[in-house]
Amino acid sequence: MSDFNKIAEKMVSRRKVLKSGVTFGLSSFISTSFVNSGSSMNEGADYVKFKEISSSTSDTITLAEGFNWNLLVSWGDPLWSTEKEFDAVTRGDQSSQRNSFGDNNDGMVLFSKDGKNILVVNNEYTNLNIMFGNNSSGKPETVDDIYKGMVAHGVSIVEIKKGINKWKIVEDSVLNRRIFPDTLINITGPAKGHDLLKTKDDPKGLSTLGTWNNCGSGRTPWGTYLTCEENFNFYFSSSNKNINISPEMKRYGIRVNDRGYNWAKVDERFDISKNPNEVNRAGYIVEIDPFDPHSNPKKLTALGRFKHENAELVMAKNGHIVVYMGDDERGEYLYRYVSNGKYNNDGDASDLLQKGKLYVARFYENNTGEWLELSPETTGMSSLAEICVYTRQAASLVGATTMDRPEWVAASPVSNEVCCCLTNNRNRGRKPNAGGDNTSINGPNPRQNNQYGQIVRWIPQEGDHTRKEFKWDLFVLAGNPIVHSGLKAGSKNINEKNIFNSPDGLCFDSNGYLWIQTDGKYTNTGDFQGMGNNQMLLGNPNTGEIKRFMVGPKECEVTGITWSKDKKTIFVGIQHPGEKGNSNFPGGKNSLPRSSVITIQKNDGSVIG
Ligand code: FEO
Ligand code: CA
Ligand code: CA
Ligand code: CA
Repeated sequence: MSDFNKIAEKMVSRRKVLKSGVTFGLSSFISTSFVNSGSSMNEGADYVKFKEISSSTSDTITLAEGFNWNLLVSWGDPLWSTEKEFDAVTRGDQSSQRNSFGDNNDGMVLFSKDGKNILVVNNEYTNLNIMFGNNSSGKPETVDDIYKGMVAHGVSIVEIKKGINKWKIVEDSVLNRRIFPDTLINITGPAKGHDLLKTKDDPKGLSTLGTWNNCGSGRTPWGTYLTCEENFNFYFSSSNKNINISPEMKRYGIRVNDRGYNWAKVDERFDISKNPNEVNRAGYIVEIDPFDPHSNPKKLTALGRFKHENAELVMAKNGHIVVYMGDDERGEYLYRYVSNGKYNNDGDASDLLQKGKLYVARFYENNTGEWLELSPETTGMSSLAEICVYTRQAASLVGATTMDRPEWVAASPVSNEVCCCLTNNRNRGRKPNAGGDNTSINGPNPRQNNQYGQIVRWIPQEGDHTRKEFKWDLFVLAGNPIVHSGLKAGSKNINEKNIFNSPDGLCFDSNGYLWIQTDGKYTNTGDFQGMGNNQMLLGNPNTGEIKRFMVGPKECEVTGITWSKDKKTIFVGIQHPGEKGNSNFPGGKNSLPRSSVITIQKNDGSVIG
């Protein structure tokens, strides 16, 4: 048995010990103890005392007792009063969609300044069967259809306001804005002006149009929003079906056919046989100033190009800005960026995300790890610019650890712990990644054909996020103890009452509790028996306890979480309810399902987070 297997076996056997009535702290059975990580969690917080709820397959929001929810905004809701209300029969057109909240909301951040509350929300993608379900083909059929689908992507920026109890969007706010796959965006960082980014429309490689497939997000201390381009490849296609796809394109999943969006039919940028470099202009993190609706967003090439999940920004003790980032693809990697400059409250922060060093994680079986720098010296690649475009290839060259699809990274505000959801990976131990890297089981990814996922946790040496060395453990190995024993039953903090699969969204609240959102299988049968719909749970990093707090409606993913300034409201995203045709959320009976943002409050109005 490999040492990695032994670690995993140890987690499971201790779970059995626990079942027999002996109580261990989580850290006593996972190899590394983080109890002394400098945590100052507020163990007395009231909201964490809720009674955990059962799993559910209901087509609604199910919440712990003592909490209530309201609908804030849904796909197609107009942001300006000149636009008509969402029409569920036509499902809108390009023009109405440009003036309305986008589809499939994902990562989001609420910014509060000068008495104004601005909610910035990613609109990741569209479900063709829902958006075009009124077409007999169930697909975009006209040029307007294609554009309607396109402009349902991007980012929605909307002012919101709290009434007596309920939050509402402020139609016609001067800060309301939509950002689309055709909005002008400036290119910044090492790859700006590089040959790989030059196109017919932009021969100097300085600016590009749009952002799409915006998944998770991030926020900076200087008040800007970071939106992360994930599955950007699904939108490119080739009019020449005999084209040879280069290895560089293959590594990023570019194919001859797109996923049915047909964007290349209306915009040649998306035709790789005509504009091969266009693919190099997507797959980045984009910075947006929510308080300046006239500003151009910026593509941050310094943070690398891959299928960006989210961007967790930490200010290190020494003032450097550190960004932790996952690349959500089977067998891809976990990254860190460290700014060259230091943050200073009054100073100019504009180059902190433009000049810095990129690193990729390598995990060792003795529960230590290190960040490997990606530079021309370490990779043999020609320049930092090339590394920032072909970041996956650079990571392979330095021998990073292949991961089980890194989704959100979250850093604790009360300790030095950082966690990342490794959502699942059916290829683990069975198939190399797209670069041919070995994906045998390893420490943080200990199960072949990983169908449940896990959360890896690390703490930097001496609590310094700029240090190369870290220690790691697994906060939880999800599993199903109802139907399995052994590794598939999960770690000891998983039991029949709190089972879930495919952790994805992840965020610490201000008291140091960890909110976990899932994007998993909701069949509620077989390996997933008893898990119900996707859900949101609360974890205690000190004790390992995990409790189910909320369950979403049918066939949704729960993704996106942010708080009001007073912490009395949590905003939560419900993405693609009814993606297979079996939900009427939020409207109820016979209504078209629509991705939505909801608010959650405590019945007594006290803080939640
Ligand atoms: Fe958009 Fe990896 O989730
Ligand atoms: Ca996700
Ligand atoms: Ca996911
Ligand atoms: Ca999703």
